[in-house]
This record gives sequence, C-alpha cells and structure tokens, in this order.
Amino acid sequence: MIIDGEEKFVTTIIMAAGKGTRMKSNKSKLVHRIYDKELVRRVAEVAEKVGSDEIITVVGHLKEQVQAVLGDSVKYAYQEELLGTGHAVMQATKYLEGKQGKAIILYGDVPILRPETLRNLLSKSIKNKEYATLLTAIYENPTGYGRIIRDEGGNIKAIVEEKDANMFEKEIKEINSGIYCFDIEELLSALKEIKPNNVQGEYYLTDVIKIMNDKGLKTGAVIVEDNTEILGVNDRNQLELLTRVLRMRINAEHMSRGVTIEDSNSTYIYDNVKIGMDTVIHPNTTIKDGVIIGDNCEIGPNAYIRENCIIGNNVKVGNFVELKKAKIGDRTKVPHFIYLGDAEVGEDCNIGCGTITCNYDGKEKHQTKIGNRAFIGSNVNLVAPVTLGDDVLIAAGSTITEDVPSGKMGIARERQVNKDRKNK
Ligand code: UD1
Ligand code: MG
Repeated sequence: MIIDGEEKFVTTIIMAAGKGTRMKSNKSKLVHRIYDKELVRRVAEVAEKVGSDEIITVVGHLKEQVQAVLGDSVKYAYQEELLGTGHAVMQATKYLEGKQGKAIILYGDVPILRPETLRNLLSKSIKNKEYATLLTAIYENPTGYGRIIRDEGGNIKAIVEEKDANMFEKEIKEINSGIYCFDIEELLSALKEIKPNNVQGEYYLTDVIKIMNDKGLKTGAVIVEDNTEILGVNDRNQLELLTRVLRMRINAEHMSRGVTIEDSNSTYIYDNVKIGMDTVIHPNTTIKDGVIIGDNCEIGPNAYIRENCIIGNNVKVGNFVELKKAKIGDRTKVPHFIYLGDAEVGEDCNIGCGTITCNYDGKEKHQTKIGNRAFIGSNVNLVAPVTLGDDVLIAAGSTITEDVPSGKMGIARERQVNKDRKNK
C-alpha cells in the first residue's frame, strides 16, 4: 500500500485464538455480533480499510467458527496451545519471513477501533522511522493492563504487565492497548528472544519493546484520543456496552452532517448508511447496512428500513413501516403500517395504511413496481410480480394480482351487499 507517498508492504495480524470463557456461550466470542456483524469481521474490515496488503488471523479455540466467518478473505495461522500473545504472533511468522515492511497487530475482540486511528499509527511509525509504535491510552483506573514505562525524556522503554509490575509501575496511568505497528524484520528477530520468564509463564509480545530498546532501535507511541476505540469484549455486558458506544458514534456522525435524530438512544443506524441534510429520524427507528436516504425526509418512529434500501428526497416513512430491498421516489409518502419488500415506488406516490407487498410465494421473492403519482388506498395487497403504471388509483381493500396500466383504477374486492338482519 501507499503511505504518505511511499510504497510499503503492510501485513495485519489478528489475534483470534482466545477462549472467551466469560461469554458463557457455545459460540466463539469472536463470532458474536455487534449490529449484525461478527466481532472478528469488524476487525478484519478495519484491517482492510487501512489498506493492509495481507491479513493473517491467528486462530485456535473454535477456529472453524472464525474461519466460517472470514472465509478466504484472510490467511490463517494456528495456535494450538495458548502460550501468550508473543506465542500467538510466532505462529504467524512463516508468512512474514523474508518480507520487509510493517506488521500491525490487532485483537479479534477489539472491534470498534477506527481505521483512521490505525492509519495515524502507521504513518507516525513510518515518518518517525520507529521499529515499534504502540497505541496507548491514559486510564484513570489502569488495573489489569500492561503499563507503559518511559524514561525522563518520555521515550518508551518497556511494557510491564500488571502481574509483573512493582508498586511504582502500578501507579502509571498510561496503558498498552495491545495494538501495535512493528517493523517486520526487527519483529521477527525480537520474537526469537522472547522467553516465558514472568509471573504468568507466558510468551509476552510486550517483551519485544524492551528487546528493541536494548538494541538501540527507536520505538514510540500514539496516545489514543477516544478511549472507547480500544475497548474489548470479554462478556455480554461489554458486548452491549460496545454496541451502545458504536451506536452513539454513528449517530453523532450523522448529526454532525445535518441529520436530526430525536432520540439517539433508540435510533439504530448500522454501517455504511448515508442520510441527507435536514432529514429527521424519529425514535425507535432501525436503519440497516448500506441504506441511502435523501434530504428532508421524515423517518420513523418504529420504522424498520432494511439493507440497501434507497429513499429519495422529501420522503415520509412513518410509524411501523418495514422496507426491504425497496426504492422509494422523491416526495412519496409511506406513512403507516406498511410493508414494501422487493419494491420500486416512483415519485409523488401515496401508499395507504396497511398496504403490503406479497413478495414471497414460499420459494422465491418477486418484484413490485409502482409508477409516479400512484395513489394506493388502505389495506391493499400487491401480489408480486406486479406492475402498476403512473397515475394509477388502487381502491382500498383490493388484492391486486394483475398489472394496472397507467391512468387506470384497479379495484379487486367483493362488491358490498347490505342485507336484512335476522332476528330483528
Ligand atoms: C495484553 C497485553 C497488555 C495489554 C492488554 C490490552 C501482553 C503480554 N499483554 O494483556 O499489555 O494491556 O493486552 O488488552 O500482550 N491471545 C491469543 N493467544 C494467546 C494469548 C492471547 O490469541 O496465547 C489473544 C486473546 O484472545 C486476546 C488477545 O490476544 O484477543 C489479548 O490476550 P489477553 O489474554 O486478553 O491479554 P492480556 O493479558 O489482557
Ligand atoms: Mg485482555
């Protein structure tokens, strides 16, 4: 990849061999999901977005599940026994031998890191010619984390694990996130020197820092600005916390671009959604991956807009409306209790309350097409495949099974008869 105008080989190693006992699950921790996306897939996507030339995932415990998620989008290394973070990286070294460039280390259970943060780490590492660049954070309560040891000049000297730290080191509030950028050749050489001479009897990846320093190789750090980025998932409470953090982050981004969100706590906007200016999102709304919404729309409450829907400008999608693979034209109103699936609706339409597309015949999905300026009465069933032209009117309560040409009225219901009441 190209970084600051320079061609560099970048490999990313994702550590994903851990057990995840605290999840209390039959599934690997790494395949639990945040907003429909597995933790490990989120991490792999960060690695992709940053432009990694190669991604290596170190798998072990329940490896089949992790591999089922990532498929052949990454390479795999196996760690049979969990002998520490250094040992995990050692399993991946066969892919690194003979290569020059940078190796980024990520954890499979730290899923909401921003690609920009990683890019920044990578650029700093290259610009400052550092052999190891750490992503660190300042924690009021650093208990449990590796502490960053700096000299008087502020240069990084080593990382000391909580369990190996003395009382002075325990006071240090700068912690190791576990995310690093290394020079590949010097990483390989330092890994050979790591020994499990510590309280936990593990091969610590963190020892690489001291080893490099002892050799006089320059190391450095970037302090993360937003500590939530390096949060990991160990149990279901943390899974919920991270989902919340991601939700607030995504919502804040939309608001900063001119979208009104009435209640961020109940607005679930998934990844890669685009929403235009002055659109208002009412409470209890879910908007899934890849949806595009134009300017000046009113969306929600209790609207459920599923993957890849496209909604024009000045559209109203009201309460209890579900849209699936639907395209809605400008100024169209889809106000309440409506299901449109596999549907294309033109401009200036009004879709009546209770309208549904019957898009599934039990085997396959079928398309519904509605032209411009159509008026669909209440409680209409549109049995797909079906096409309605421009300016059509569909009478309330109709079950439409045949196409309706432009300008026509479709009515498909029993004629009403009023009968005498018995026993009166
Ligand atoms: C590690 C760091 C610590 C840092 C902390 C941040 C070391 C020695 N310590 O500590 O400085 O503050 O992360 O969270 O690196 N893993 C494997 N194989 C192993 C061991 C771990 O794949 O043999 C994976 C785990 O699944 C996890 C990650 O590596 O995703 C970190 O392992 P963990 O045991 O949580 O490391 P810590 O002891 O917390
Ligand atoms: Mg940990």
